[in-house]
Amino acid sequence: MVSLNQIVYLNGLTKLINITYDALDIRQQYVQSLNLAVEPSGPPPPSPPEEPKPYARPQGFSSDISDWMATSATQAGISKKRMFDNISPEGAVKGLVTAAQSRADPDYWYHWIRDAALTMDVVVMLYEAASPQKKGFYEERLFWYAKASIDEQNDPTAITGLGEPKFYLDTNTGYTGPWGRPQNDGPGARAITLIRFAEAYLKNGGSHSVVTSQIWPAIARDIAYVADAWKTGSFDLWEEVNSQHFYNRIIHRRALVLGSQFAKKLGYNDDAARYSAVATQVLESAKGFWDSQRNLVLYSYGPVMRDKSSYKDISVVLSVLHGYNDDGVFSATNDQILASAYHIATSFLDIYPIAKIRKDGSGNPLGMPIGRYPEDVYDGVGTSRGNPWYLTTSAMAELFYKAAAEFQARDQITVTQATEDFWRYFAPPADPTLNRKYTSRSHTFKEMVRALQGWGDMWMRTVKYWAPKDGRFPEEYDREDGRGVGAKDLTWSYAAWITAGAARSRASGDQEWLRRIADL
Ligand code: NOJ
Ligand code: NOJ
Repeated sequence: MVSLNQIVYLNGLTKLINITYDALDIRQQYVQSLNLAVEPSGPPPPSPPEEPKPYARPQGFSSDISDWMATSATQAGISKKRMFDNISPEGAVKGLVTAAQSRADPDYWYHWIRDAALTMDVVVMLYEAASPQKKGFYEERLFWYAKASIDEQNDPTAITGLGEPKFYLDTNTGYTGPWGRPQNDGPGARAITLIRFAEAYLKNGGSHSVVTSQIWPAIARDIAYVADAWKTGSFDLWEEVNSQHFYNRIIHRRALVLGSQFAKKLGYNDDAARYSAVATQVLESAKGFWDSQRNLVLYSYGPVMRDKSSYKDISVVLSVLHGYNDDGVFSATNDQILASAYHIATSFLDIYPIAKIRKDGSGNPLGMPIGRYPEDVYDGVGTSRGNPWYLTTSAMAELFYKAAAEFQARDQITVTQATEDFWRYFAPPADPTLNRKYTSRSHTFKEMVRALQGWGDMWMRTVKYWAPKDGRFPEEYDREDGRGVGAKDLTWSYAAWITAGAARSRASGDQEWLRRIADL
């Protein structure tokens, strides 16, 4: 007889189909079918702690953050320079991106498919924005990246093929040690970046035949992989759990939609139709991650690790930043995303001691420090206790800037049951009424938008406040004293700072920020 003296709250569990067990004595695995409907029993889930009270009421953009993020200021130059130092660094195959300048404790001296795709996507953004005489610098690197991607796809030593998460920098072959594999968000993210590059290159007068011979082959392999593999188990972006993830769904869906449109453009109509059909299925599945009882998008379905049972994970926010496709689906103003952002952000208040520091030296408010998820125990080198990260803190800022800009463009905000807590916490001065539609003519609308802008700046101020004096971001800042910890010069920390800056400039109507940083 087996007894389970642990309470299990598995969202979405409706039926036990079978039981698979190891019969250790005879070393055999048995499967017995059950077909039992699951009915909730036992004690109810623990009641949530009292709702946190808002501690700041920021109003719009602040000049200290405008100054810090200005392209004439040192941080802009540092973020850009350090990111490019990690693209094709000395000793690496051209087109590869090291995850950080750290070869031990932790060893991040590898090309991660995910980190590289997100970084090279920033390069695409700079390529699009740069003045004509500057474009060549970006274009050259993007072609190196496309070539390196094709070599990775053809690497016979890659243990899980396209699902392989990281590659040796000096040989561009798959890492062969034990690792969380496959990680199937990688090919999706890479396809998105390469399609965006191909489009930008064509728009800039690039040749069709170069696209079909040097970029499309890489895209086609990735999209075909995604169309097949989206449903199969994968490690999450934090490389910890093999399960089904919301983040991967959203990345896959965007890759398939863009892939379908691009295939059509090149005349591959059968592929285009197939990818678009799969994209629809992926989206349907992604919608199932919403948990109306928790008022939260679950980051994963399936096994969760180390009591990661809050189901709160910043990856849900990152999904929108990396996977939104400008088509109204899971955007920064999506009710479910905003509801989740509220739960995720406030979950760190009681976890990090430095969350008690709520103002900088001049009395300006700081956003709460943001990590990956509240139960995290990865400390940047090994496992002890988790810390806030620079890239996740910038990500919250970016989400809020994007939400502010999108609400303004749409000229409409309605508070729903899902977003009621979000607005109450982040925009107390607005005090909106449930289910009422506000447009920009109303004072309430203005207050709501100003609150979003203000919180965006509060999070960038948190990044600034806890940044090392020399402006070089590692991966994390210590939860007890805010010291920078973990991998030095993490490429993704810089990439996330730049994309947050771009979102801020769009939200504040500064059309030139991107071009200026691209031309630096
Ligand atoms: C390294 C992974 O990249 C990181 O995300 C994880 O938390 C640690 N290993 C601990 O498992
Ligand atoms: C650990 C992070 O969890 C993972 O997302 C990332 O890809 C690697 N570090 C490399 O930066």
